Amino acid sequence: MPKNRQILLKRRPSGMPTLDDFQLVEKERPEPGLGQVLVRNQLLSLDPYMRGRMDDGKSYMAPVELGQVMTAHTVGEVVTSNDPAFDPGEKVFLTGGWQDYAIAQAPDVRKINPALPDAAWLGPMGLPGWTAHYGLFELGHPATGETLVVSSAAGAVGSLVGQLAKAQGLRVVGIAGGPEKCAYVVNELGFDACVDYKVSEFAARLADACPNGIDIDFENVGGDVLDAIWPLLNASARIVVCGLSAHYNLTKPLPGPDLTKVLKQRVNMRGFIISDHRLHIPKAIGEMATLVGQGKLTTRNDITTGLEYAPNAFIGMLQGKNFGKTLVQVA
Ligand SMILES: NC(=O)c1ccc[n+]([C@@H]2O[C@H](COP(=O)([O-])OP(=O)(O)OC[C@H]3O[C@@H](n4cnc5c(N)ncnc54)[C@H](OP(=O)(O)O)[C@@H]3O)[C@@H](O)[C@H]2O)c1
Repeated sequence: MPKNRQILLKRRPSGMPTLDDFQLVEKERPEPGLGQVLVRNQLLSLDPYMRGRMDDGKSYMAPVELGQVMTAHTVGEVVTSNDPAFDPGEKVFLTGGWQDYAIAQAPDVRKINPALPDAAWLGPMGLPGWTAHYGLFELGHPATGETLVVSSAAGAVGSLVGQLAKAQGLRVVGIAGGPEKCAYVVNELGFDACVDYKVSEFAARLADACPNGIDIDFENVGGDVLDAIWPLLNASARIVVCGLSAHYNLTKPLPGPDLTKVLKQRVNMRGFIISDHRLHIPKAIGEMATLVGQGKLTTRNDITTGLEYAPNAFIGMLQGKNFGKTLVQVA
């Protein structure tokens, strides 16, 4: 009977994972039950989200338990099938884990078109592709002529985001680590520019690459990279918080609000200026007047008498000395 090699999570890492956090074991190859298939994993996808799953309950997904096989999407071939919908030899996509063989059951195992490369089922048609497509089109709302910046631009998700945006007629600026990755992003992926975040003049170079500011930030990194993007954001810019690679291995959170909260809790952080929404104002006036008329709202006013005291009242308000709505009784 062939053996099944598995990589287990042995220990929860502190900061950057080390080899000692994993354990290679050899088990008997499992047998599929009724309605199940046995798959020989051929290609295994490694993705940054797995780092979160090595922690205890800190990820947006359930943690991998200690002693359990590390999770992963895989492409493989059906070895034995107890499901009439699958035949031995068929190519499938599944969450097969870090191991030679996996047991799976529809719908968690799907047939894939073997005419397309296996790797593409874990790239453009896999998690990176789903992520790039959804994040860009559903959250980024790209429009021709806008500028999009994407970090980890040479990586699985970033490389796809930039190419999809380019095809929509956007100016696309990548951010990546090192000259080799940046050259690839421009020369082979066709981005308009790519800035190396590891050089000291990174922020100035990013500003040069975005002469019209930034309309969409497809954020994969956070930290210093996001700091450089921040001042360049245009009015009504969209920040798609897809990933925060600079945060994943920190033992102490960075100063300021913890953006991993935005990611993990799917927080919708959106700016607005009420004067942009003039059509809403009559509705608001009508509904508020009704509530006031019915005595359903409690209000408190902080009234200063005399126009000459308006500056004092204003400064006092800015210092928190007002208690309620600040008003001046002019006459
Ligand atoms: N929200 C979702 O559902 C979802 C789904 C999939 C992926 N993601 C996120 O998308 C991002 C990209 O994922 P991927 O699969 O495409 O990985 P990837 O970009 O292929 O690989 C990770 C890259 O992160 C960059 N990186 C690592 N540490 C960094 C740091 N401290 N500062 C700056 N860059 C750093 C490195 O690129 P450089 O050499 O350029 O630094 C590295 O190549 C990740 O943050 C991931 O968590 C989110």
